[in-house]
Amino acid sequence: MGPRLAALIAAGAGLGVLGLLAYWALVLSEGVYLGPWVVTWLYDRVAPRYDRIKNSCPEDDSRCLARPLLLALDAVPAPLVLDVATGTGRLPLALEAEADFAGRVVGVDRSARMLAEARRKPAGVQQEALCLARADAGRLPFPDAIFHAVACIEALEFTQRPRETVREMVRVLRPGGVLLVSNRVGCDALAYPGRLCGRGRLERALHRLGLEAVESERWQVYYDLVWARKGSTDT
Ligand SMILES: C[S@@+](CC[C@H](N)C(=O)[O-])C[C@H]1O[C@@H](n2cnc3c(N)ncnc32)[C@H](O)[C@@H]1O
Repeated sequence: MGPRLAALIAAGAGLGVLGLLAYWALVLSEGVYLGPWVVTWLYDRVAPRYDRIKNSCPEDDSRCLARPLLLALDAVPAPLVLDVATGTGRLPLALEAEADFAGRVVGVDRSARMLAEARRKPAGVQQEALCLARADAGRLPFPDAIFHAVACIEALEFTQRPRETVREMVRVLRPGGVLLVSNRVGCDALAYPGRLCGRGRLERALHRLGLEAVESERWQVYYDLVWARKGSTDT
């Protein structure tokens, strides 16, 4: 092989590796290793198509998310729920669609356009029971211990410091309150090194933060749901 051909092959291989890296950084891991502005920019771009791409099923969201959350909040007649990285309002809408939900939901997200999509949702939702605001999951603009439940669905791995996000979620949760976080698992989790993904890591982090009744359940192929409760004496 001549030196020119060897150089061409080396350049081609280099470009291939760069292409793969770019694909991982921008597509597979949705920009999270490039900084929060990149993630927000990507979600702002995709917002008008997000619901169509996700194609979430309202019946499944009711059965797997809203109803179990209401069951866990059984003793609270009008719970105040926080949905961190709410996107287009999937969890708030699922809760509000439940006839026996008499509480209020606050949804926060970094992407203004995802929130704009949530605000466009049907008038059936009791708007006075729903508050949407821009905020970073790593610095929640709420005092300690005010929410009866805090959730973060399909989003923890996209926040800059997942451990900090979880700490913030626990901080704003009332003693005895319910935490619900989805956990990326399976081979998808390999695209998110160092981000609490894969079975066991999130659960251990929650135990270390003093949470009780930490339980995970299979939800989707690439997501588990992790449930926990904050001890009734503040930790
Ligand atoms: C895959 S979507 C999930 C949205 C919604 N929870 C759902 O289940 O449909 C991820 C969301 O996380 C939001 N996000 C990513 N990083 C964030 C951060 N640091 N703070 C707040 N929201 C963030 C994105 O803007 C996006 O709306």
